[in-house]
Amino acid sequence: MTRKFYITTPIYYVNARPHIGHAYTTIACDTVARRQRMLGADTFFLTGTDEHGQKIERAAQAAGKTPQQYADEISAEFRNLWKRMGISNDDFIRTTEDRHKKRVQILFGQIRDNGYIYKGTYTGQYCVSDELYVDGAQPGDPCPTCGRITETVHEDNYFFKLSAFQDKLLELYANPDFIRPETRRNEVISFVRSGLRDLSISRSTFSWGIPVPDDPKHVIYVWLDALANYITAIGYGSSHAGAQEAFRKYWPADVHMIGKEIVRFHCVYWPAFLLAAGLPLPKAIVAHGWLLFEENKMSKSRGNIVRTETILDVLGADALRYFLLREVVFGQDGSFSFDALVQRYNSDLANGLGNLASRTLTMINRYFKGQLPTPLQKAAKMSAGDAIASAARKTIQEFGDLFDQFQFSRALESAWGLVAAVDKYIVENEPWSLGEKQDEESRSRLATVLYTSAEALRIATALAHPVMPDATAKIWAQMGLGDIKKVALQDLAWGQLRPGTKLGDVSPVFPRADKSAIERMQQMENQERSAAVEEQKPAAQAAAPNAAPAPVTADSRITIDDFARVELRVGVIKVAERVPKSDKLLRLEIDIGTEVRQVVAGIAEAYAPESLIGRKVVIVANLAPRKLRGLESNGMIVAASLEGGRSVLAGFLEDVPVGARLK
Ligand code: MSP
Repeated sequence: MTRKFYITTPIYYVNARPHIGHAYTTIACDTVARRQRMLGADTFFLTGTDEHGQKIERAAQAAGKTPQQYADEISAEFRNLWKRMGISNDDFIRTTEDRHKKRVQILFGQIRDNGYIYKGTYTGQYCVSDELYVDGAQPGDPCPTCGRITETVHEDNYFFKLSAFQDKLLELYANPDFIRPETRRNEVISFVRSGLRDLSISRSTFSWGIPVPDDPKHVIYVWLDALANYITAIGYGSSHAGAQEAFRKYWPADVHMIGKEIVRFHCVYWPAFLLAAGLPLPKAIVAHGWLLFEENKMSKSRGNIVRTETILDVLGADALRYFLLREVVFGQDGSFSFDALVQRYNSDLANGLGNLASRTLTMINRYFKGQLPTPLQKAAKMSAGDAIASAARKTIQEFGDLFDQFQFSRALESAWGLVAAVDKYIVENEPWSLGEKQDEESRSRLATVLYTSAEALRIATALAHPVMPDATAKIWAQMGLGDIKKVALQDLAWGQLRPGTKLGDVSPVFPRADKSAIERMQQMENQERSAAVEEQKPAAQAAAPNAAPAPVTADSRITIDDFARVELRVGVIKVAERVPKSDKLLRLEIDIGTEVRQVVAGIAEAYAPESLIGRKVVIVANLAPRKLRGLESNGMIVAASLEGGRSVLAGFLEDVPVGARLK
């Protein structure tokens, strides 16, 4: 019977456009899925988008769109990017699809019927950015994951009896393959050992989610909704026979691949939900590290993202795929830079695999009229070639072992070790000199050298196919071997290349990139960033003529560009309290739509803290953080400063949505 293999990426939040951090998870999964297909497994590879929850609702509001419109646009961007990159996913699930919504309600019902859901009241801190309940935190405490200030939630909720699963989960973690790498497994074990509290699994103060069955005032907690995608997409809860069959076939998943920041949701909550529903558990959860840019996690909120499209335009998808898997040690954080990308591309692809392919195939064309020669059979004369053969055999084994343990970087290092060995072998045997001679001995040696090189090239190319599908397919066709997808990796062995094979047309697969490639990519990214600022300009220009004439001198005037750089946003004050030992300062937590900011403001003499709760204010949202009395202030409230130092907060006569931008 054919072995099945089911692998998933996390589903991506639609509050941010895709960047290469997202592409990293998708590429890693795509590579594993492709290798499994080549190993003969009936493979199912799932990805999709995560579209519900308070974070998305607020982001849509700030963008002046309905959550559905907003989700439709960004979800399409993910889907189109994966298409453009040739990602081989078998399905793309959106959590706003009917099939998902219905099946999540069935899952909720199943857990409730099994007695693991009860009603209660939740009072505590919540991080909207991570959609995470932060146990034990106090008002004003930051989220332990992202550092943003948590919000206080006080609601009637449905609770999940997470505490009932502590022992079962610990038993599960005894299997060292369940959570990888080891460091993540240890973190999870100590988190669970320290005690599990029941988890609120519904919200009732906003509506962008899947209604709780029979109690539609509540929406299901977005993480329960999102995690369920792994089963809803393959047919869980469907009444359709085909879907039921697919669910039976593919579930449990073989691998959930995720980033390290969402380990707890996948390794604690998800197995507990499944246990409560009486469903089988996934076989492995594999966590990778972060892609850093300019030393920080690449993310929209930090504004340090690199778009995938830029790299696709200049170097192509294969270059990005190879770079990310070769350069970043899987499981650890890794830095991205355009310099490193181009350097790797040139050294390993243009000068490495690409050069091996073009020199070997060009010489076969030149000296053997494009037909693969027959190697010399006498072992004694082939000792160098034999060394390559045994290196290749070792590489096939080593590459497979490392790759199947998700050690992509070491696996590729091993395959490129073979490429380097063949390069050396070619240099030492000087086939170009042998080609000048006509005697039989030289002809046979030439045939052996070129056969050996071509055979090693074939093996390195087949192994690298899941990592670089396009380029390797081209090399395969140039070698006259047909469709590379048909290669059965489990049978790959030295000596399968048939003498007499007619080569296809030979052309360079990885043209060398020069310095201008780096500059072009940097320029494209810079243009993209200034275009984002440009977008804000027309509105700012329109607003300018109405602005009250200010007593400015010619020297102190600013341009519209300068003004457009100031991000003014409407926020609502959630928390206000005096800063100890200060008469002037208040510590505020202000919800600005996309996040809650801590701002320290000098308005304590003008306003009592309790009078400020719920008040809408204007804040300068992109002010660099500064510390006041040891507290970090992230932004500044706009106020009129009257004589005598009194402040009056700016406000609006009409109601304005939280997060709206002033321009
Ligand atoms: N929606 C949740 C996942 C729900 S799964 C049931 C989510 N979405 S996300 O869009 O924020 O992140 C999706 C994946 O992208 C995560 O695995 C995350 O680690 C990955 N990355 C996003 N930025 C990244 C980097 N800068 N570097 C590496 N991966 C990063 O979490």
